[in-house]
Amino acid sequence: MQLTPEQLLQFQSDGFLILPNLFSPVEVALLRAGMDRVFRQDDPANIREKHSQVVRTAMALHQRDEVFARLARHPRFVEPAQQIAGPDLYIQQVKINVKEAFTGEVWQWHQDFATHHHDDGVPEPLALNLHVFLDDVNEFNGPLYFVRGSHRFGPAATRHDTTTTSYPLWVVPPDVLKKMTARGELVSAKGSAGTALIFGDVLVHGSPPNLSPWPRAIFSLILNPVKNHSTSEKRPQHFHHRDLTPVVALADNCLSGAR
Ligand code: SIN
Ligand code: MN
Repeated sequence: MQLTPEQLLQFQSDGFLILPNLFSPVEVALLRAGMDRVFRQDDPANIREKHSQVVRTAMALHQRDEVFARLARHPRFVEPAQQIAGPDLYIQQVKINVKEAFTGEVWQWHQDFATHHHDDGVPEPLALNLHVFLDDVNEFNGPLYFVRGSHRFGPAATRHDTTTTSYPLWVVPPDVLKKMTARGELVSAKGSAGTALIFGDVLVHGSPPNLSPWPRAIFSLILNPVKNHSTSEKRPQHFHHRDLTPVVALADNCLSGAR
């Protein structure tokens, strides 16, 4: 699948792209069945919420279940990523972030690059984050918030937050965020299950706790140019995979087999 010239321009201008209903209900059902399987596994790559102990993020999914091995190589993700970031991309991270109804906790304001750079030694902010919603995402169940155009400001000053949640994160402090929102509006990324997002490594984003009665699960694939690979193995490999083999796109029907 190729992005249109208009979509590429929009990505360059906003720093993100929302692709409504990119995956079908049948494909989402297959992914949700895979999610149930991996969440039942007792695995160190299932990271639990600080307070409720329910799963917050489940990582290394392409190594743990066939449906995610295929999704990480899906042409609707890989080909647009190659258009934006070049032909040789490796699979850096494959996860599902969940916000359980009532208990799902915050993702503080951050740029993914800060963690990739400080923790994994990634040189440049060239990686792409590709999401697909596994639930309907609305204004109540913890959608991602983006600062439109914040990628233009480049890497921001950050602070390492190891206490707010169970997931240590390099975060953008409130004073920096305030300056950015004076120049770029806030957008919440909402849509039906199957909707996809693409955003770059320095786009500022976060998401609020889930106060609603509706769970919110989002699959996330990070692809990084091989030439921009990590230079530190400080974190366990489920945070940043070491295999630099360029990803090769599968067929468009690789999830469902449907034609
Ligand atoms: C992310 O920063 O990629 C995760 C945010 C979320 O799942 O809400
Ligand atoms: Mn992020």
